[in-house]
Formats: sequence, C-alpha cells, structure tokens
Amino acid sequence: ISEGKPQRAAPWWQAQRSRLLAMAAAGTPRYVYDLATVRERARALIGTAAVDRCFYAMKANSHPAVLRAIVGEGFGLECVSLAEIERVFQAIPHMAPERVLFTPSFAPRHEYEAALARGAVVTLDNVEALKRWPETFRGRTLWLRLDLGHGEGHHEKVRTGGAAAKFGLPLARFDAFVEEARKLGVRISGLHAHLGSGIDDPQHWRGVYASLAGLADSVGTIETIDIGGGLPVAYTPEAREFDLNLWGAGLDEIKAAYPRYGLIIEPGRYLVAESGVLLLSVTQVVEKDGVRRIGCDAGMNALMRPAMYEAYHGIHNLGRIDDTDTAAFDVVGPVCESSDVIGRARLLPKATEEGDVILVADAGAYGMAMANTYNLRALPVEEALG
Ligand code: LLP
Repeated sequence: ISEGKPQRAAPWWQAQRSRLLAMAAAGTPRYVYDLATVRERARALIGTAAVDRCFYAMKANSHPAVLRAIVGEGFGLECVSLAEIERVFQAIPHMAPERVLFTPSFAPRHEYEAALARGAVVTLDNVEALKRWPETFRGRTLWLRLDLGHGEGHHEKVRTGGAAAKFGLPLARFDAFVEEARKLGVRISGLHAHLGSGIDDPQHWRGVYASLAGLADSVGTIETIDIGGGLPVAYTPEAREFDLNLWGAGLDEIKAAYPRYGLIIEPGRYLVAESGVLLLSVTQVVEKDGVRRIGCDAGMNALMRPAMYEAYHGIHNLGRIDDTDTAAFDVVGPVCESSDVIGRARLLPKATEEGDVILVADAGAYGMAMANTYNLRALPVEEALG
C-alpha cells in the first residue's frame, strides 16, 4: 500500500485481462462494459434513504444492455432527444412511460409533442415555449427546470448554470412562467435543476433541494423536486471516491426540513463511467524531439473527453501490465488534430510495440456516446459483459 494514496478496490477489468485481450483480438477500437459494476452503482444510489426516485441520464451511455441493467434495478430514464426516447422503447418495450423523463434543450416543437403523446414526463426551461406553442402544452402537467444562477462541475464546458449557460429558467422569470402556465391551465408538478457534471462537493445537492423547495412552497402544485445529476467518479489515481454516505446524510437532513416533496436524482456518469473500458491497438511507437509517443488505432474520435475537457483517464498496456521497466509516453490517436492526445507523460512499458492492446479506463460515460467518425474512421464496437 503506497502512503497517502486513497485505497480503492481494484477495477473489475484486472480480473478479466485475458478475456479482454481475446476480445481485442477480434477488433479494436472496442468499448467493453461490465454490467455487474453498473448494477452495483445503481443499487448504491437507489438504496439511499432520502432518494425517492432515480432517473438515469442515458446520454452518458445508451447501450441497450446498459439501459436494461439500470432499469432492472428500478431506475427511470432521463432523455434529451426523441431518438433517445425511441431507443428506450426499443430496448425495453414494456417501459412504463411515466418513468421516462424528457429534459431537452432547445428541442423542436414536434419532439415535445411526441414525448407528451408517449406519456413521458416533460420538462420546460423557458417561457417562450409556452408562449409560442400554447396548443402543445395547454392543460398539460409539466416540470420546470430552473437556473439557480451559477454552474458547477469538473470543467467550464460542463457547467450548466448562470448567464453564460443556455439552460434553465432564470429565477427572475419564475413568476412570469407560473403566470403563463396558469393562463394555459398548465399544472407545474415538478421543479428541476442540474448545475453541472462531475461535482465533488457532496453537500451541493442538498443546497439545490433547499433552493427548489423554497420556491415549490410558493407554487402549491409541486410534488417532486429533481436535483439533477453530476455525481463525480474518481478518474485520477489521487482522487478520492465520492462519499455517498455523506451525500445521503445531507439529503436526509434537508428532506427533514422540507418533507412534502419527492426527491429525484438523475445521474449519468456515476452509474456507468467505471463500468467501461476502451480497448485500442498500438499502431506505431515514435520518438520526436525527446517526446515518446504511443500511437493507437483510435483517439479523440473514439473518446473525446481528453481533447475536449483535458479529462484524465487511466491508460494501461493490458498485455504487459506487470512490466515495471517503464518510461513516460504520450498516448495519441490517428486523427489529424494536435488535440488528439488520450494522455500525456504516462508511465508505460518501454517494450510497448505495434499490436499491443491499450486499455483506457473509466470510459463508460460519455465515451461511445460522444464518439464520431471524423477522418472517416469507423465508430468503435461495443460489447457488454454479464
Ligand atoms: N441531467 C441533466 C439535465 C444533464 O444535462 C446531465 C448531463 C445529467 C443529468 C447527467 O450528468 P452526470 O451525472 O452524468 O454528470 N460530456 C461531459 C458531461 C456532459 C454532461 C451533460 N449533461 C463529460 O464527459 O464530462
């Protein structure tokens, strides 16, 4: 045990090395998801006393087996496009529509209409939608997403509150929304806020609940308060695991203060990030101007997070995991952009060579979901275990 490092359980993939090497031999780039890990995370959240209902933000990973595993644990699904809603009913034909939450941003009118026709719970986040499309919303029961005035999260690009962000109704327009809703016979039954992604402070969500509960009292028709997603995972070796007990205790306390509302969460990353690995094959190993690079058959086309947010993912040479004769390498992909770097200055075996299998860890959230075909490279394949 090394001093000062948080003690964490070994990742699932360490016990599956030979199986993963065999899968990689069938073709890379390849995402592999461990459903046992997904289920374990889902159970931990759903077992939190203060939480009344959980919706999984399927934008993080919409693989059908992943959706089935999470819904099987009692979660509903949070969707942001009509295509996501359609994916839900394809993967789970008997899904109860009221367990589907539609929280889009700047969606076209027909998507709201389709979601309502399906029986999904629909969230609006501006007054303009009510004013422009009164016939779409007249007499409906809706949720309202609020902008609490500030954003949170692991990177500026994932903060979803405050004037610079496109999401949510500003508090200053709350009364105007309630008034417009009244005119149309719209019943507002839920209040929602999601301030960002990868939020480290376990007390953040109790604050969101308190803010929304304060407003809910003034509306009178609110039944549920949705405090968003944003639960973090520990990507770097130094990071501490999120303290779920502290998080839950904070929610218990605040719910005791405002007991009238059902408390809803909608996490994405927390359920799936650690369940997923990305397997790549080494194409070339090159030294230039003192920098050694390991090139792989996919990079930012398969996993955008390092290029987009300078996000950290563990990187391992799967077939040489015990090789301690290492040097610092940048690990790069084949895309024609200087940002196509998966990790910088990582200690990897000096013996790394063409054909070796590289494992990129904690890639189950916003990995395949954000993959693209830039440079006409093929999308990764996906496989779920268990
Ligand atoms: N609810 C809403 C309304 C959201 O917009 C999101 C994520 C979530 C829930 C789930 O957030 P989570 O629990 O996964 O943090 N691509 C970025 C993350 C973008 C998150 C977008 N919205 C990344 O890879 O870090």
